[in-house]
Amino acid sequence: MAKKIKILPSDTGYDLAAPRYDDKEDYLNSFEQGKVLTYLQDVAGKKVLDVGAGTGRLSVELSRRGALVTALDVSSEMLKVLAKKNKYIELAIGDAEYLPFGNEVFDYVIATFLIVHLRDPKQFFDEAYRVLKDGGRLIVTNINQAEAPEVETDAGPIKIESFYHRPEAVMKKLEELAYTIEKEDMVFEGDVWVNQILVAKK
Ligand SMILES: C[S@@+](CC[C@H](N)C(=O)[O-])C[C@H]1O[C@@H](n2cnc3c(N)ncnc32)[C@H](O)[C@@H]1O
Repeated sequence: MAKKIKILPSDTGYDLAAPRYDDKEDYLNSFEQGKVLTYLQDVAGKKVLDVGAGTGRLSVELSRRGALVTALDVSSEMLKVLAKKNKYIELAIGDAEYLPFGNEVFDYVIATFLIVHLRDPKQFFDEAYRVLKDGGRLIVTNINQAEAPEVETDAGPIKIESFYHRPEAVMKKLEELAYTIEKEDMVFEGDVWVNQILVAKK
């Protein structure tokens, strides 16, 4: 009989996944086709909060572009990998749904491959709105993942708890919270959408 694979919450799951996470960088990039970074070209001197920053796939590039980056994640092991790559990025261990920052601090909040791990992204969107300056932007991606994939770790294969969000539902939640949607890019593989990229203005 096939062995049942444990489904873990994000903090313990990503702590286990951290050492091998960067092996999948090209695969992860393919879901964005460079689009997320095109919306973050003029970030020099801007305050950027990367929520669910992981090992810094985007944080490191934004810091290189001169942004003042804060990387927040529930997984301390993911942030440890990030810390080895860049000493200028500020690190925060915390939960996307309770951001440990004051009101109207950031020019941008970004969240790539994050909301797939949130049962309901509404509270995160609300928090992002609170910490954004007036006119600031939330850039969020929503991958089309109906079922959590198997992840290889040194402790054996695991799955990390994840949730499917319909693109229209994500858009609706943002609009209900008074964001203005400036852009929606759908990334396709053949006929199937694989990622929704949204730029929402406060
Ligand atoms: C698939 S990784 C994405 C990492 C990075 N954003 C990227 O695009 O490569 C998802 C990250 O979100 C983090 N995460 C999941 N749920 C979270 C939450 N509620 N608050 C903060 N971070 C969370 C995980 O620990 C993990 O590092």
